[in-house]
Amino acid sequence: MTPPADDIPWWRRAVFYQVYPRSFADSDGDGVGDLDGIRAHLADLAWLGVDALWISPFFRSPMADFGYDVSDYCDVDPLFGDLATFDALVDEAHRLGLRVVIDWVPNHTSDQHPWFADAASSRDSAHRDWYVWRDPEPDGSPPNNWVAAFDLTAPAWTFHEPTGQWYLHLFESAQPDLNWDEPAVEAAMLDTLRFWLDRGVDGFRADVVHGIGKDPALPDDPPDTAGIPHCALNDQPVTHERLRTIRTLLDGYPGERMMVGEVFLLSTDAVATYYGHDDELHLAFNFPPLFAPWLADRWARCIDDARRALDPRGAWPTWVLSNHDNVRHRSRYDRAAGRAGEDAATTARRSEPRARAAAVLLLTLRGSPFVYQGDELGLEDADVPEERRVDPGGRDGCRAPIPWDGSPDHGWPTAPGVSTWLPFPPGADARNRAALAADPGSILHLYRRALSVRRATPALVLGDLEVLPSPDGTLAYRRRLDGDACTVLVNFTGEEVDVTAPELVGAAVLLASDDPAPASGWSGTLGPDQAVVLHG
Ligand code: NOJ
Repeated sequence: MTPPADDIPWWRRAVFYQVYPRSFADSDGDGVGDLDGIRAHLADLAWLGVDALWISPFFRSPMADFGYDVSDYCDVDPLFGDLATFDALVDEAHRLGLRVVIDWVPNHTSDQHPWFADAASSRDSAHRDWYVWRDPEPDGSPPNNWVAAFDLTAPAWTFHEPTGQWYLHLFESAQPDLNWDEPAVEAAMLDTLRFWLDRGVDGFRADVVHGIGKDPALPDDPPDTAGIPHCALNDQPVTHERLRTIRTLLDGYPGERMMVGEVFLLSTDAVATYYGHDDELHLAFNFPPLFAPWLADRWARCIDDARRALDPRGAWPTWVLSNHDNVRHRSRYDRAAGRAGEDAATTARRSEPRARAAAVLLLTLRGSPFVYQGDELGLEDADVPEERRVDPGGRDGCRAPIPWDGSPDHGWPTAPGVSTWLPFPPGADARNRAALAADPGSILHLYRRALSVRRATPALVLGDLEVLPSPDGTLAYRRRLDGDACTVLVNFTGEEVDVTAPELVGAAVLLASDDPAPASGWSGTLGPDQAVVLHG
């Protein structure tokens, strides 16, 4: 017998919603979103029916990586507000029943963090060992062959002329890696967690958290991985010890504080180890499904891999289709679908059913789903002209501002001469929050219905998942909990498919991706790119 839902930690039952603050909503007309902008729309998120927000970084930062380069972990960047604005946001979220998870960036700081400024001031400085410094090789080259993210031709090292050593950075040179082998670093970073826990946050999303342990010998990456950024390869036993310390700290706080780790290792088996034995991360992102194409057999494999890797540890899966680092799934699936000679508008129209079916898939798999802001509007990536591109990693398209309405400024009123920091996604005149909220047939209402069906159906939240036989190009799974069951069918093809399962024909349709009011008894046929949830 499964324990009652209330005995299951909230983060296993929750649907998370990622807010990328620069692009969510703006309260002061500078064209960049902020914390008061988020607060103004919390009621919209409560209406949608998500349970928790993950807010990407809003800490003081020179913005070389748009906040993932932190210069003060314990303050809000003035661009986004201040600590009082943050407290007000948390209070209001909690009042609405929404948990708040914030981003924690433990692998690196900004090069303008006072710790790094001191470290770079001399070889003897107090903070020198807080970062990873090495002498040049005899020929002057970097200490090893590690490659940085973003520019795969660049070494993960920058030579610091004034002190004659290289420093390590798995990302931009403006993001020097912290040296977690130095006990003072660990102590200082744990203090940053305490700072926000004491302010009432419910948890953290930990940025590239598998990076906090490095092989102290800093050996070359093997030649067969040449060109792969080291952040996708770094996987060291010492990180697990550090995660156990972090877990103890979090579990010592009342109220089920949690951490979901970004473990950017491209195998589910490797990711699984970062849950430890329920003594490391509470949750970890698993990237292979995010990179999987819209193909039934690939998704069947992802589901199987997650089960095989996580179940023996009692670890709880996460599911993510889009985030601020990757082309939105609607655009990705769409590109794959584009037919020769078809114009972009037709492809986009054809891709909406697929985005809807993907929503049903995301919200009915076993595990905690993460919805990226704008997924619920079926947004595509913005087409960002060369002169407006700002991200060193080329990720501007998925970070386009959320269009709140159909007015010329889409709910982002700016002073004359000021524009939003990035252009809006395509079709924002019609595809905006206000227009979709007014249309019960919209994808926004589908997300809301799916979240409401999920909440009302414990089998969808906590039940087992059994993959059932189904025709090629489709996926069928049954979620079952304590004698209650429902079956999810997803058609990944653009053709109608008859599903020969007599026991399902006539079953009550709890949700259909394409129809706000589906006929009560299921017909036995899946429409093109359609997903349904049936009772039984
Ligand atoms: C992963 C974050 O999601 C990404 O946006 C950032 O650039 C890198 N980590 C470095 O912090």
